[in-house]
Amino acid sequence: MRLDRFLSNLPRFNRQQVRLLLVQKRVRVDGLTVADPQHEVREFSQVEVDEEVLQAGRPPRYFMLHKPQGCVSATRDPEHRTVLDLIDEPDAAELHIAGRLDFNTTGLMILTNDGQWSRRLTQPQTKLPKVYYVETEQLIGPEYAETFARGLYFAFENLTTQPATLELLGPRRARLSIVEGRYHQVKRMFGHFDNKVLRLHREAMGPLLLDEQLAPGEYRPLRDEEICRI
Ligand code: URA
Repeated sequence: MRLDRFLSNLPRFNRQQVRLLLVQKRVRVDGLTVADPQHEVREFSQVEVDEEVLQAGRPPRYFMLHKPQGCVSATRDPEHRTVLDLIDEPDAAELHIAGRLDFNTTGLMILTNDGQWSRRLTQPQTKLPKVYYVETEQLIGPEYAETFARGLYFAFENLTTQPATLELLGPRRARLSIVEGRYHQVKRMFGHFDNKVLRLHREAMGPLLLDEQLAPGEYRPLRDEEICRI
């Protein structure tokens, strides 16, 4: 958000007062005096006026988790263990999930407190492929790849899925790459052929690959170079 908007959204300053504060160089963002009303204030920026902290700065945090089966992709659940229960970090409750997985789906899950960053990772417009390993009950026919590449109509949402890529790995095994994350998308795509998905595992989200060193239930912070790739 722009600095002038951030300040005038506070009940204590009107727009004119904000202009004055900036001209008088009384505003500091992350320790530096800022007079530019368009300066970007992030949820992590520390904002001060006359040395009074109006928003405390805090670090953005990013984690990669190997989601196990039987665990809910939610921050809270009355019945089941959640992915957040697996994260032993201070203020874990301020993290959110970037791209949910079903209860029995395993694999790469990203948790962060950086909303702008996670939107870039998940929104279909950025077209970052989400790659899934799939095992099915029935044989996967040659017609699947063409149908998935064309897109499937989902009546509930009244939309056609974006082109997806299917790589056959065996008679009942495949790797599917999709750029969006509609509700139960992979299961519904195979469901179009009445083929039940028996195992689903997310291997990658864009340039982020599940770390093979992580056993199910384990997690680690993302490395700087991984964060910068999104
Ligand atoms: N598609 C599904 O159907 N389930 C998941 O968990 C992820 C993608």
